[in-house]
Amino acid sequence: MWKAVCVLALCSQLLYGSVFRFASPDLAAKQAARRIADLIVSKKGDKTVLGLATGSTMIPVYRELKKIVCEEKIDLSNVVTFNLDEYLGIPSSHPQSYRSFMYAHLFEGILGSGIKEENIHIPSSESWMDYERLIESEGPIDLQLLGIGRNGHIGFAEPGADGESKTMIVDLADATRQDNARFFDGQVERVPRQAVTMGVGTIVKAKEIVLLAFGKHKADAVAQALTAPIRSEVPATFLQAHPRVDFFLDSEAAQQLDKKAVRRFANARLLIDHRIQEGDLWVANGKIVAPQDQADEEIDVRGRILAPGFIDLQINGGFGCDFSRNPERISEVARQLPQFGVTSFFATVVSSSRERYRAVLPRLQPCEFCGEGAANLGIHLEGPFFAPAYAGAHDPQYILPEGEALEGVYGDLQGVKLVTLAPELPKADQLIRELKSQGIRVLAGHSAATLEQMKTGIETGVGCCTHLFNAMKPFHHREPGIPGAALLQPQLPYTLILDGAHLASETLMLCWKCNPEGMILVTDATEILGLPDGKYQLGSMNIEAYNDRVYVANTHTIAGSRLSLDKAVRTLHRLTGCSLAAALEAASLKPAQFAGLYPAKGVLAIGSDADFILLSDALDVEATYIGGTLVWSQFREASGR
Ligand code: F6R
Repeated sequence: MWKAVCVLALCSQLLYGSVFRFASPDLAAKQAARRIADLIVSKKGDKTVLGLATGSTMIPVYRELKKIVCEEKIDLSNVVTFNLDEYLGIPSSHPQSYRSFMYAHLFEGILGSGIKEENIHIPSSESWMDYERLIESEGPIDLQLLGIGRNGHIGFAEPGADGESKTMIVDLADATRQDNARFFDGQVERVPRQAVTMGVGTIVKAKEIVLLAFGKHKADAVAQALTAPIRSEVPATFLQAHPRVDFFLDSEAAQQLDKKAVRRFANARLLIDHRIQEGDLWVANGKIVAPQDQADEEIDVRGRILAPGFIDLQINGGFGCDFSRNPERISEVARQLPQFGVTSFFATVVSSSRERYRAVLPRLQPCEFCGEGAANLGIHLEGPFFAPAYAGAHDPQYILPEGEALEGVYGDLQGVKLVTLAPELPKADQLIRELKSQGIRVLAGHSAATLEQMKTGIETGVGCCTHLFNAMKPFHHREPGIPGAALLQPQLPYTLILDGAHLASETLMLCWKCNPEGMILVTDATEILGLPDGKYQLGSMNIEAYNDRVYVANTHTIAGSRLSLDKAVRTLHRLTGCSLAAALEAASLKPAQFAGLYPAKGVLAIGSDADFILLSDALDVEATYIGGTLVWSQFREASGR
């Protein structure tokens, strides 16, 4: 059965390409614009060829792209654009022509970027015959943007188009004309009957394709495009054969994708109600469901522990990607994390310059299901409102002990879910209140707070302590500080980094004895996670790794870790002798509760997300499921009944 399951999951990954679900069309549009801008910048002045689409879906994308190009002064003098299509039968000056659309929504807003009129190509009744040759001579297209019609068209390649078709004149389908009547005062008869369009064969020659779709009315077409057999009745299904297509969807457009079979994970040892108990787990639509009469698929997990996926509240990167420096590579990290049982995480950014926050935060926006990897649930800003004496590995030049207006420091707080700050700072009260009012959770850390100051912080809204004992005023018998608060208040959560470097095992034992309920495991992993000893970076700081530890270069100041969360769970179990259930909950239930994710995440409850892991009794992760989909497994062989 295992083999069958693995094969099945693999197929669905192929068909699904990378599906990115965003909380809103705006977020998806921002990410698409960011992808385009990053591509242009990465070419360092070499030619970038873009394939552009029109339609309502593209309007926010172009709005964001204009913003980025202007704010970041991106040079477009070597950008060449090819539009997908154009109506025939209306002049190019007509307000509803795609030429007018492109100038109104994009080109007029980026005239100062160096973009050249001769590099903008929009097909027309006069030029269409040369269009294919022109694309071939300038191309290949590096990145093609696509919308999708309700009838599954891409460009105006309507149902019936063959998969190899080139630029051509087409009759618009009745459904398309009716749909596009919204741009012609609702009058179908005013919608042109013909158009010129790139063919499917032209479109799929692009190196990379990003298809965007928003709204319920696109859900069916999206599901067909991704899961139906490849056929000309739904031209978008031809995209399945392309190696690099990303679908950027809002939750409404993604809703049909969830309609998958009912699956029963039988013979499991489930972590439910704080203990491990024998039973079956039922999954459908990406969620845990009540037991059903029958399963479409049964997976015998042969007595393995089945627990909620791990959630890392503090991770700076991994595998050579530092979120504070290379945020555009976050999906590479996300794809690696399921091997450690991590199903979601909070991308953590160390104290940085104002410019860096503005450059980095828009690229770390939460994404519910990023391709095949763990989900980034939001940003954790660690700093810069810290006590200078406890800056640790944070660059002292960015520390702001006096406090300042949040927006002035970070720019836009969109996507920010957690902030670590020192509660004793003069303006901390105001900052905590403001963060709280924006739904952002506040953690105390890098701080010289006394017990009293911490208590005041808690009253104002501090909800957790960041890496207890590290980078804070230590426990003193007359001044117990933050450690005193965390150890004595069972309702106060605190995070620990169990990598053998940050804490003595006796300190862990003390924490476990005093406040086991509050303990949350985090990694604070740096880009070194998964890489060999050597010299690396954390934000603007040079760091180095040896002996399982990470230091600020040429010092003995610890600088994050190279720890994985599954290892931290095993360490907790081994050093404290706690139950398997308690060790697992410290990396699942506990972070979910603090971050406000519970009960959607962190538990195996009916209605919760089907983010779960299979483990051996030694707590080695053997398989990881996100939204009910197998995203990582160490099984190679069939082992079922
Ligand atoms: C646009 C195009 C069409 C649209 C599609 C969706 O150049 O060729 O395929 O992308 O019809 O349109 P909207 O975004 O308006 O729903």
